[in-house]
Amino acid sequence: MASIDQYLETHAEAFEEELCRFLRIPSVSADPSCAEHIRRAADWVADQFRGLSFATEIIPTSGHPLVYAQSPPVAGAPTALVYGHYDVQPPDPLDQWVSPPFEPQQRNGNLYARGATDDKGQLLTHIKGVQAWIETQGRLPVNVKFIIEGEEEVGSQGLERFITDHADRLACDCVVISDGAQFGPGQPAITYGLRGIAYFELRLTGPNRDLHSGSFGGSITNPANALARMLAGLVDDQGKVQVPGFYDDVVPLSDREISELAALPFDEQQYLRQVGVEGATGEQGYTTLQRRWARPTCDVSGLWSGYQGDGAKTVLPAVAGAKFSFRLVPNQDPDKIAAALRQMLGQLCPVGIRMELIDFHASPGVLVSLESPYIEAAARAIAHAFGRRPVFTREGGSIPIVTAFREALRVDTLLLGWGQDDDNTHSPNEKFCLADFHHGIRASARLWKELSQIPRNGS
Ligand code: BES
Ligand code: ZN
Repeated sequence: MASIDQYLETHAEAFEEELCRFLRIPSVSADPSCAEHIRRAADWVADQFRGLSFATEIIPTSGHPLVYAQSPPVAGAPTALVYGHYDVQPPDPLDQWVSPPFEPQQRNGNLYARGATDDKGQLLTHIKGVQAWIETQGRLPVNVKFIIEGEEEVGSQGLERFITDHADRLACDCVVISDGAQFGPGQPAITYGLRGIAYFELRLTGPNRDLHSGSFGGSITNPANALARMLAGLVDDQGKVQVPGFYDDVVPLSDREISELAALPFDEQQYLRQVGVEGATGEQGYTTLQRRWARPTCDVSGLWSGYQGDGAKTVLPAVAGAKFSFRLVPNQDPDKIAAALRQMLGQLCPVGIRMELIDFHASPGVLVSLESPYIEAAARAIAHAFGRRPVFTREGGSIPIVTAFREALRVDTLLLGWGQDDDNTHSPNEKFCLADFHHGIRASARLWKELSQIPRNGS
């Protein structure tokens, strides 16, 4: 590995420059005006693989294209499938960025840009991890396939379809994903659980136009008032989601997991300080880590109605709307929850209001087995690169495609997040710590060696 480590050292700066080029492409999957940039991002990723002489294809989907690439075959060696996403979240609110979101800037050892950690920087670690092998050894010690999508931030529908239709092409021994966080600075982690998600938009329509709130208020149902009531009905003051049957399939945490989570060196005060609030809230009876990682929730993500300008305007608005989602834990069924929600909101919807509930996307929560030789191989690779063995954590975020990999390919996923909790994913001033970027590349390069040493077929 000496020459690989040396290669990584001498190319560190070049890798950072390449990441900056990738980050300059505003590949916002939710924004239809970014279609051209989405295509450019897919091309950029495909060019990386072509440069390594991987068999590379850009595959169209009903939405944004997939990039598929495959290393030259290594007979008898295991196959890893690396997944990542080249799409990013919308950058707004723009006025809160210190430097513009698509003009990467280095400050205090961090690279700031939308997508720096989620997921362009993290996915690039695996491209550079294989590049180091190809450039120094002429070949990889394992087979590596890559599937990089452009719709993760909007629900992964194109990829889901591709996986079910082309499971044979993606056949592998394990999936590798770096699209999450370490436990904290200096403490790497392997994630064994992700929450799922069910995302909705609720639109309420009342009178046929905005009305004078004095002339009409008190006699005509106000959609904004109705929306506030309906949303308030979703969660009670103990933090319990009120959708009927919501908790029916939730598997309680085992005593072992409760004590393992409690043993993690979580600094709650630091966690709260970092986001600038005084206290934690949530479902009663659970610790903050349990509530973030292993309990389901409901959060409103967007809310609109009425007059938003300066000063006061006495109006009874004609429409109101909200975007909100439930984070789900393993074993909860998103379809069942969507049906129960629709019925509940129908009952809460008052006279004089027409309601439309749009079901955007959903995916269940997942737990991956820690009892696999691949996990130990990853733990060794991480210890080599980060200088410390990983702890085992769950995450509150969602990577919808993990369930599809398990169902279609029957393999487990290694969730190896290189980011940090304070990387500002989905927020202004997203960043990726450059030391984490380089450690991630080193861990990736080491992982291929560790995977190649796992005995196969009883050999
Ligand atoms: N990288 C995140 C998921 C994540 C966040 C994993 C934090 C671990 C820790 C991913 O890109 C993401 O944000 N996913 C969306 C999925 C959704 C839009 C379907 C999410 O969780 O909101
Ligand atoms: Zn991501």
